[in-house]
Amino acid sequence: MEKQAISVSEAIRVRRTVRHYRPDPVPAPVLDELLDLTMQAPSAWNMQDRSVVVVTSESGRRELSAAAFGQPQPLEAPVTLVFVADSTAWEAPNTDIAEQARHSGAWNAEFTALFDSRAEFHELRRRDLLRENAVKNAMIAATYTMLAATALGLASAPMNGWDPDLVKKAIGIEDRPELAIAVLVTVGYSDAAPPHPGRRAVERTVFFERFAA
Ligand SMILES: Cc1cc2nc3c(=O)[nH]c(=O)nc-3n(C[C@H](O)[C@H](O)[C@H](O)COP(=O)(O)O)c2cc1C
Repeated sequence: MEKQAISVSEAIRVRRTVRHYRPDPVPAPVLDELLDLTMQAPSAWNMQDRSVVVVTSESGRRELSAAAFGQPQPLEAPVTLVFVADSTAWEAPNTDIAEQARHSGAWNAEFTALFDSRAEFHELRRRDLLRENAVKNAMIAATYTMLAATALGLASAPMNGWDPDLVKKAIGIEDRPELAIAVLVTVGYSDAAPPHPGRRAVERTVFFERFAA
């Protein structure tokens, strides 16, 4: 039977962090769709200064589980996505980005000139915020992954509990200081939908006009 599509609101409401998975692999077309949707995430200046390393091999997943202090998710899930943030991506010519946006009409000459100047990135560098900027973009992509996974009938789990040096080694970037690990997201199938752990009432976390906690 064809699976019923779910809305974004529903995906947001039903997504849970799933820590245990069935061993079933994620079919290639489903994984391709998930990765394609992930890369639809926005990034500052459309710099796309984040990438994903897809780890499916048992040895790779074992290494990631060890890097994550023995957490079981990378071992049990058939796929672990490692989100990599590149704080130097803006230094490259990136002419393909500007050309695509000019061609589609998304950017006018003025915006393209601003992009080409990299003024904001120079300012980020001055304030030592380049890494933070790239990590933000990677985290937004990971959020897209989790919601897209839910819509595709996949369970997922974000993970921030790991040793960055060991994760970098596991994906072969131990000698790349400009690259940071933002987050890991495990993806697969699960029989058990964990209960919603709950959220505080929005009155405690949403304010209007002025912060008020
Ligand atoms: C950035 C981030 C990092 C996380 N890291 C871990 C982790 O390393 N291990 C883990 O078991 N859960 C991790 N979690 C899952 C949270 O515990 C979980 O999102 C939270 O309890 C709310 O549950 P829910 O995702 O089911 O709504 C992480 C969540 C986020 C957003």
